[in-house]
Amino acid sequence: MVEISASILSIKNENAIQTLYNLETSGIDYFHIDVMDGEFVSDNTTSKMLEYCEYINSISNLPLDVHLMVNDIKSYINSFSVFEPNMITFHIEATKNEKEVLDLINYLKQNNIKVGISIKPNTKIESIIKYLPYIHTALVMTVEPGKGGQELIPTTIEKVKQLYKYIKENNLEVDIEVDGGINIENISLLKQAGANIVVCGTSIVSSKDFKETVTKLKQM
Ligand code: DX5
Ligand code: ZN
Repeated sequence: MVEISASILSIKNENAIQTLYNLETSGIDYFHIDVMDGEFVSDNTTSKMLEYCEYINSISNLPLDVHLMVNDIKSYINSFSVFEPNMITFHIEATKNEKEVLDLINYLKQNNIKVGISIKPNTKIESIIKYLPYIHTALVMTVEPGKGGQELIPTTIEKVKQLYKYIKENNLEVDIEVDGGINIENISLLKQAGANIVVCGTSIVSSKDFKETVTKLKQM
């Protein structure tokens, strides 16, 4: 059974509170928090996401799945760890060297936060293979990070398959999360490829009945 992590990136400011409440009761497994710094990607969602995290924690016990699309990873971990997220994922492309990656992994673990590392569509899975024994989740981006509502890039599905094969062959216990452009039509391809945490933003928040959509996403 896959878990659904709902991206709140594309919810409208005007009715954010009602939308977050509707999501909380829709059967999702995580709130996916897309944090952008205006540097690693052009948009900046920092203050909005800090505000939403505070609100979510006041109405919900659902775990927070924080996706950092930022350059200064450590200071963003400090800003978001106050919300006691279940997991924080950073991008391998934003790191300088192996030492920094290992430091970040240790820092998150010391703070009791699960560790995710993400790769962009053009980054090969080889760039994160050596860290797999030490982390909880590998996040394979299925769109270029930076915007919600994009179309899934089909070549990324092959990367999920390769990663799944590697994880099984090496008896590792790493979740595979996929993120970007995932909807009722294509989710089964990702599940078959081996993903077990699926981020869905637009496909849920633009639907009429969140609960019905989440149920369908899980069934497909
Ligand atoms: C893209 C974000 C994703 C994305 C998900 O930069 O990381 O989480 O917005 O939203 P949809 O499902 O709309 O692509
Ligand atoms: Zn994301």
